[in-house]
Amino acid sequence: HPPTSQMEETSLLRRANCRSKGAAPGFKVAILGAAGGIGQPLAMLMKINPLVSVLHLYDVVNAPGVTADVSHMNTGAVVRGFLGQPQLENALTGMDLVIIPAGVPRKPGMTRDDLFNINAGIVKTLCEGVAKCCPKAIVNLISNPVNSTVPIAAEVFKRAGTFDPRRLLGVTTLDVVRANTFVAEVIGLDPRDVNVPVVGGHAGVTILPLLSQVNPPCSFTPDEISHLTNRIQNGGTEVVEAKAGAGSATLSMAYAAAKFADACLHGLRGDAGVVECSFVASQVTELPFFATKVQLGRNGVEEVLPLGPLNEFERAGLEKAKKELAVSIEKGVSFVKK
Ligand code: NAI
Repeated sequence: HPPTSQMEETSLLRRANCRSKGAAPGFKVAILGAAGGIGQPLAMLMKINPLVSVLHLYDVVNAPGVTADVSHMNTGAVVRGFLGQPQLENALTGMDLVIIPAGVPRKPGMTRDDLFNINAGIVKTLCEGVAKCCPKAIVNLISNPVNSTVPIAAEVFKRAGTFDPRRLLGVTTLDVVRANTFVAEVIGLDPRDVNVPVVGGHAGVTILPLLSQVNPPCSFTPDEISHLTNRIQNGGTEVVEAKAGAGSATLSMAYAAAKFADACLHGLRGDAGVVECSFVASQVTELPFFATKVQLGRNGVEEVLPLGPLNEFERAGLEKAKKELAVSIEKGVSFVKK
């Protein structure tokens, strides 16, 4: 791949020497689908993350251009580009964290499940690469439908004998980011000071905001609860319709993905008290996968946290969410099995 020259390797060595003189070591991060609507701004945000020492940008198109562009930012991470399937293994070898936003996005009128046929195959291929080249890496899966692509990834890893449920995380952070913003609007707070747990999954009714557990504690009228729940569940569709055929959320998603990846890196570094919502292998419900708050650490998910007390409205929402989730999970599992 063009950007890796002798000169760059020398500079890598020089930087490694500098780091050993006291600076914290960084992590190696790959983005698969790095030239896409999410991938590009996400590449930029990961390039400015001080915990990243090496950033690999892989895509089947335009990876060299995005790499050249991002590599000129005078931040710490060394950026390398990888174009097309023959370079997938080099892109993945040695990575600590692999972020996957590869695949097609929604157009107006489509559900996330309508993306299944294309994205399932892409995720399967990319995860086979992860199993082979960096089986210990933490995987952040963004490609939709997340409710099915996470089970697909798990099946691929099981087949390869590398599945570690702590290391596979479906990214639902955008639902939390939206919930924080929309709730802050209603209660008149700074969105940075609001934290809304969002559990279940990442599509329609499976997105279950727990408004009874908002931090700081606050109460809502029944109308506010219905408006907020509806807006949070349909936030993605709001963007798809506003973009009118040009795709789905990319900028807010890149922000959310960068926030989640940063939390994973802080966990890997051994920081205490890193908690985010994520769609993971779980025993919180009878379903094999479910999104709740998880505690992140050196191995990825150190602990899947319980749902906490739900009110009647949320309990009813949970039942609806579980019904739809069961179907989406099964669809992912049987895609790999057949
Ligand atoms: P996009 O079409 O702009 O970019 C996707 C990129 O993936 C393209 O550059 C494409 O070349 C690349 N790609 C396709 N096949 C590939 C393969 N086999 N290997 C590597 N790269 C490949 O789409 P966008 O808007 O960036 O969305 C990407 C995915 O993220 C979609 O599935 C979308 O539904 C999902 N998404 C997930 C969200 C979440 O909250 N988890 C939120 C928003 C979108």
